[in-house]
Amino acid sequence: MTRDAVPIQVDWFCCRGLKRARASTLNRAYKSLGHRGIALGQLLCMYSRGMLCALAPTRVLAPMDKWKAALDVARSGESKYKILVQAIADDIEQGVLANDQRLPPQRHVADAMGISVQTVTNAYKELERQGLVRCEVGRGSFVSRRMSDRVATYILDSPERALVDFSITRIMHTREHDQFWRETCRELSTEEDQPWIHAFRPIAGFESHREAAMHWIGRQGLRVERDDILITNGAAHGIFLALASLAGPDDVVLCEGVTDHGVIGNSQVLGFTLKGLEMDRYGIDPEHFEDMCSNERITALVCTPNLNNPTTSLMPDSRRREIAEIARRFGVHIIEDDVYGPLLDERRAPPISHYLPELSFYCTSMTKSVLTGLRIGYLVVPKRLALRTESILRVNSWMATPMVSEIAARWIRDGRADTLVGLQRKLLAGRQALVTEYLDEYLIAQHPYALNAWIGIPPHWEIDSLVRALRHKHIAVTSPDPFTVRGTPRPRAVRVCVGAECSDEEMRVALIGMREIFGQYPQIHDF
Ligand SMILES: Cc1ncc(COP(=O)(O)O)c(C=O)c1O
Repeated sequence: MTRDAVPIQVDWFCCRGLKRARASTLNRAYKSLGHRGIALGQLLCMYSRGMLCALAPTRVLAPMDKWKAALDVARSGESKYKILVQAIADDIEQGVLANDQRLPPQRHVADAMGISVQTVTNAYKELERQGLVRCEVGRGSFVSRRMSDRVATYILDSPERALVDFSITRIMHTREHDQFWRETCRELSTEEDQPWIHAFRPIAGFESHREAAMHWIGRQGLRVERDDILITNGAAHGIFLALASLAGPDDVVLCEGVTDHGVIGNSQVLGFTLKGLEMDRYGIDPEHFEDMCSNERITALVCTPNLNNPTTSLMPDSRRREIAEIARRFGVHIIEDDVYGPLLDERRAPPISHYLPELSFYCTSMTKSVLTGLRIGYLVVPKRLALRTESILRVNSWMATPMVSEIAARWIRDGRADTLVGLQRKLLAGRQALVTEYLDEYLIAQHPYALNAWIGIPPHWEIDSLVRALRHKHIAVTSPDPFTVRGTPRPRAVRVCVGAECSDEEMRVALIGMREIFGQYPQIHDF
C-alpha cells in the first residue's frame, strides 16, 4: 500500500469539490488501487482527465485495460484503429462508458496503448462520425447518448396495452380510409390489363403515375414537367436520394437546428457534416443561413418550410424568396421537404423550389396526408442532376413499388386523395383544439392542420424525467433529442403527435393526465 493510502477519507475528497457519493466511491477506489501501487496524486490526475471511467473500484480503469487487451491480441495486419473503434463502441453501447462521460485525452490513450496519437485521433473521429462520441473544441471528446437509448426513448416498436401513444407522427385513420381501400381492391380485382404487377420499368415510375404526381405537386404550388419527377417509396426515400446525389464525407449540409430525425440519420449514413441553423416561429433564420454560406462551402440546405417537424413552424412567402435568393447567390442546393404541404389549404405560400427550380429538389408524399400505408412519394429533381439521381434510385431500390404507386395515382385522379386530405384537416383541427384546451399554458407552437404540437416543459421538470413520468402514466411523448442537431441548444419541449390511435375521449383523459404531471414536482430521485 502506498504511503498516503489509508488516511485519506471521504471528507478530504469533498474538500476538493466532489459530491459525497462520488467522494465515497473515489475513496474506495483509492484504497483498492493503493494496493496496486497507484498514488493519490496519480488517482486524482486520472480522475480529472476522465480516465477513471466509472467511480466504482471494480470498474476503475477497466475500459482502458480492455482496449489494450483488444489491441494486444490483434493479429498482424489487423487495423489498430478499427480495433480501438470497436472496443470503445462496445463500451459505449454496453453502458461501461456513461453518456456525457469524457473520454481520456488522445495522447494518454496513445501512451497507454503503445500506438500513435494519429491512430487514436482517427478512432475518435470515426466514433464521432458514427454518432457515438462528440468532440468539443478545447474541452475534449465526450460520449454521446447511446444509440439504443435514443431509439428506446423515441419510438415504441409495439403499442403497449392502454398506452396513449403520442410518439409517432401519423394521420388519423378513419372508416373512409378503409372504405376507399376496399373499393379500390374490388376495382382492381376485375381489371384485365394491370402492368404494375409485372413491369419493372421505367425506373422513374410509370408515365401515368408521374402525370398524376405532376398534378398533385401542381396543387402544392409548384409547376413541374412530368419528366422531372421520380416516384419514390415515401418522402424519406426521396430525401435520401436527393442527399445521396449531392453530399458525401467532404460536404457540409445545413438544416433547421431542430428537424426531422431522418435528416440527422442521413448524415450518419452518408457521412456528410450536418449543421443546424437558428430558427424562429417562421423557420430558418435567413441571416444565419447567409452567414454560414459566407464562411464556408455549403453543399445543400435541407428544410421543411411547411409545418416543420417538430416545431410546426410555417415559413411566410417573403422568407421563402429570401432563402431562395441566398441559395442562388452562393450556389447552394435546396432539398425542400414538403411532406406536410398537402395538409395546408389553398392559402399556403408557394414552395421555395418555385423560386429556385434550377437548384432545388422538392419532395412530398402520401403517407402524412392521404393514407399511412400508401408509401409513395414524389421527388422533383433539378434537370442537371436527373441522370445521377435516377441512377441512385436504380441502385438503391430499382424503382418505387408500382402497385402502390398505381393506387396513389388513381386516388389523385379520381379525387379520393383530396377527399381524404379534407377529412384529415377537419380531424386534426379537432385534435389540436383538445391540446389547446388542456395544455394551453405550456404550448410553444401548434397549427390546426399539423400532426403534432410542440409543448414546453415547466421549469421544475428535467426533460427525461418528465418523459419517464408520463410513460408511467401510460402516455408516450417524444423528447427533443431525436430532432436536435448537434451544436443546437436542447429545446425544453416535447413533441405530442395528435394523430394517436385512440378515441377523442381517451385523448382527453391523456391530456388531463399530462397536465396533472406537468403541474406536479418530480419525485425526489428524479432531481
Ligand atoms: C419532415 C418529414 N419528412 C419526411 C418524413 C417521412 O415521410 P414518409 O413517411 O413519406 O417517408 C417525415 C415523417 O415523419 C417527416 O416528419
